[in-house]
Amino acid sequence: MTDAVIARAKEILRMNDLGAYTVPTHGLYPFQWNWDSALSALGLFHIDEDRAWTEIETLFDHQWEDGMVPHIIFHKEDEGYFPGPEVYDTRRPVPTSGLTQPPVTGFAVRRLFDRATDKEMARARALALLPKIARWHDWFYRARDPHGTGLVAVIHPWETGRDNSIDWDDAFERVPTEGVGAFQRRDIQHADPAHRPTQEQYKRYIWLVQLFRGLAWDNTKLHDASPFRIVDPGFNAILLRSCMDLADLAEELGDTALSLDQRAQAEQGLDALETLWSDSRQQYLCFDRVTKALIDSPSVGGLIPAFAPIAPNRAAAIAAHIDALGKRVNYLIPSHDPDAPGYDGERYWRGPTWLIVNYMVADGLERDGHTRTAARIVEDSLKLIEVGGFSEYFDPITGTPCGGPEFTWTAAMVLEFLERGPVG
Ligand code: DGY
Repeated sequence: MTDAVIARAKEILRMNDLGAYTVPTHGLYPFQWNWDSALSALGLFHIDEDRAWTEIETLFDHQWEDGMVPHIIFHKEDEGYFPGPEVYDTRRPVPTSGLTQPPVTGFAVRRLFDRATDKEMARARALALLPKIARWHDWFYRARDPHGTGLVAVIHPWETGRDNSIDWDDAFERVPTEGVGAFQRRDIQHADPAHRPTQEQYKRYIWLVQLFRGLAWDNTKLHDASPFRIVDPGFNAILLRSCMDLADLAEELGDTALSLDQRAQAEQGLDALETLWSDSRQQYLCFDRVTKALIDSPSVGGLIPAFAPIAPNRAAAIAAHIDALGKRVNYLIPSHDPDAPGYDGERYWRGPTWLIVNYMVADGLERDGHTRTAARIVEDSLKLIEVGGFSEYFDPITGTPCGGPEFTWTAAMVLEFLERGPVG
């Protein structure tokens, strides 16, 4: 059984491999996506070590001059996706979006390096990537934390990776839809519309893109101009884990200055993350930088911080929180509390379980000694694959496969769960 699952996961990675980058899945997502690539590289490692590094190198070939790494690289034309390069109009040599995504490459590169069998190759490739990743991290603290709080904001739901989370519902009311012309969505031609964001949400997504395009994607202006400025604990935790991992890697590779810088950033951010902790929810919460209030919404965004080196009492509380959720769902971890208003088990980030989230949370919990909770998360993830194949996401109660099929990062995470060996 395990052999068949591993073989199928590898087949999916090969199917979605276009040579120097992978597509998340054919049809629904025909280009290169940022955090998909970082996490998929960990799966590619189990097929071809050299190819795994290439995945991340290709992404960084499209880094902007200011340090930002875009969330989509439109390598080739494809009519099957909306919004395409003409909507972003970022005027790059190879078109890209103008938004970014959760910065998980620092973590991925350290893991590729630690696992490397060809240490010489890994050393050369890690040394070349280090300053680029550090530049991206620095960009975050400059462009998305202009007032030096230690936490970065996202300015569009697509940046969070959790596009239609219930967390954004109230803040999204501030985003108008006037001036958004007619457009044809392509996602709902590839996936069940009941699994995707609504039309009303899409209009607001596009309004924000139009606003940023009108400012020529100038990152010195976008943060303050956006009516959507959210501090997401999950997003920040991913950045903090990546800063820490980059610091460790730089230290090992002899770049002391870079290492000290990244570690200082991470330590400041970990302190600031504490301001998002909710005693009543026993998890972290998002913070709305426009209204200056915490958003009382129990999503997985507040549990993802287990991935970062948070304080032991916080990690223990998150493990207990996930254990309690495990009594209410069959497949951990739901992206939203199933008893909270707005929960929808099949609609993208409003309830479904995602294997990439499971991987990051289980990784942190295991590191912090919460091995029983981590094992349940891994077990549930593998059961989902048996029930529903390698889908994009799954209903946490019924296990119904949702979104796109034959998904690259789902396959990558399965390979990690089955073939990774000891963590760390
Ligand atoms: C989409 O198109 O659904 C993406 O999440 C935006 O990057």
